[in-house]
Amino acid sequence: MTSMAGLSTADGKTIRVALLGCGTVGSEVARLLTEQADELAARAGAPVELAGIAVRRPDKHPELPQHLLTSDAAALVESDVDVVVELIGGIEPVQTWLLTALRKGKSVVTANKALLSEHSAELFEAADASGADLYFEAAVAGAIPLLRPLRESLAGDRITKVMGIVNGTTNFILSAMDSTGAGYAETLEEASRLGYAEADPTADVDGYDAAAKAAILASLAFHSRVTASDVHREGIAGVTASDIAAAKALGRTVKLLAICERVTADDGTESVSARVHPVMIPRSHPLAGVNGAFNAVFVEADAAGELMFYGQGAGGAPTASAVLGDLVAVARNLVVGGRGPRESAHAALPVRPMGQTPTRYHVSLDVADRPGVLAQVAQVFAAHDVSIAAVRQRDRHATASLVIVTHLAPDAALQATVEAIGKMDVVHEVVSVMRVEGED
Ligand code: NDP
Ligand code: HSE
Repeated sequence: MTSMAGLSTADGKTIRVALLGCGTVGSEVARLLTEQADELAARAGAPVELAGIAVRRPDKHPELPQHLLTSDAAALVESDVDVVVELIGGIEPVQTWLLTALRKGKSVVTANKALLSEHSAELFEAADASGADLYFEAAVAGAIPLLRPLRESLAGDRITKVMGIVNGTTNFILSAMDSTGAGYAETLEEASRLGYAEADPTADVDGYDAAAKAAILASLAFHSRVTASDVHREGIAGVTASDIAAAKALGRTVKLLAICERVTADDGTESVSARVHPVMIPRSHPLAGVNGAFNAVFVEADAAGELMFYGQGAGGAPTASAVLGDLVAVARNLVVGGRGPRESAHAALPVRPMGQTPTRYHVSLDVADRPGVLAQVAQVFAAHDVSIAAVRQRDRHATASLVIVTHLAPDAALQATVEAIGKMDVVHEVVSVMRVEGED
C-alpha cells in the first residue's frame, strides 16, 4: 500500500487506483507509485494508493505485492477504486472495462493508442455522462509532453500542422539504413536482434502504430474526430537502399513521418489531411537529426509559430512518467472537485482523401541519354498538371540519371505521373520515388 497518512481529498478520502496491466509500462508505474508515494501525495494533495493490480497470469509476478494481484480486471474495475490506469493495450476486453469505469464516474488514465484512435468518442461520451476524467498523454510519443500542450497550452491558438517521428522502431531502422547503407531486410533483422523491433514488427514497420498516433494528434490539433482508419498509411518495407542513397545525394534523409495538416481549399473550406508515409526531408531540418529510437514532433500554429517536442517515445520508465503525470492531474481534479479537458471536436472538419492532398514528389530515373528525352519526361509531368520545381541530370555510360522534384500537386496526379513515366520507352528504370517535406 502506498498511502501517506495526514493527506486526504476534499471528502477525506484517499485516492484508490486500479492498475490494469503490469508489463513493460505497468511495472514501472507500480514501482514509481510505490517509491514516490509521499511526493506524489504532496503534489496531488491526497494520498494515491495502489488498490489492486490486474494481470493475465498472477503466478508470473512474484515481484509484486501478492495481496494486490488479481486476474479479474472486471471485478477490480467494479471495486471501490477512484481511478483506473489501463496499461494492457488492444480494444476488447479493455474497452468494456474502461466504459464501465467511466460510466461509474471513475476517471481513466491510459496509454492505449489502439483504443483511443478508434473509440475515443465513446470513451469521452461516457466520461461526460458521469463527470469523470479521461487522460492519455502516454498514448503518443511516450514520455514527451505533447497531448497536454495540444489540449491545453495551445487551446487558444490555431494549429495548422503537426508533423513528426512518432514510431521509434521505424526511426531506428531508417537511421541505421542511412548510416550503414544497408537494405531494409537486413536492418530489420539487426533491429530485432538488438531488441528494438518486436517479434512481430508489423504494427511498427507497416505504419499502424504511427497511424493510430496520427489520428489522436489530428483529432486534438484540429478539434475534429479523426480515427486510425481515416489516416492514409504506408510503412517502411518499400524503402530501399537506392531511396536512401538518392536522398543522401541530394542532402536529404528518409524518415517515416506522421503528418497532420489543416488544408484550405480555394473556396476557403477547410479539411484535415492525416497521413503516415516515408518522406525525404533536408538534412538541415530539425527532424532529420532525430536518430535511433527517439521521437520528435513539430507543431505549427498561427500565433505560436513553430514548436518542437523531442524525447523518448517508448520504454517502461519514460512512458510511466507520462502516465504518472496524468494520474497526478486526475488526483488534483478529484481533490478540488474539478475536471480535466473534455473532448473538443466542435470544428468537425472532414478528412481529405489522400489523392486530393497536396504533396511534393522526388522522382529519380535512369533514362536514355539522347536529345529530347528530358523534354518527353517533362511533357508527362505537364500533361498531369504537375509543375516541376527542380531537375538534376548526371550522365552515365549510355544512360542519364535524372532527378526531378515537383512543386505541390494533388497526390493522385503525382501517382499517375509516376505510373505514366514508368511506362515510357526512354525510361530504363524508376530508381526511387518518394514524397518530399520540409522545404518550400
Ligand atoms: P506488455 O505486453 O508489456 O504488458 C501488458 C500487461 O497486460 C501484462 O502485465 C499482462 O499480464 C496484462 N494483461 C494482458 N491481458 C490481460 C487481461 N486480459 N487481464 C489482465 N491483464 C492482462 O504491454 P506494455 O506495457 O508494453 O504496453 C501497455 C500499453 O502501453 C499498451 O497500450 C501500449 O500500446 C502502451 N504503450 C507502450 C509503450 C512501450 O514502450 N511499451 C509506449 C507507449 C505506449 P501478464 O504480465 O500476466 O502477461
Ligand atoms: N512500438 C512503438 C515504437 C512503441 O516503436 O515507437 C511506442 O508506442
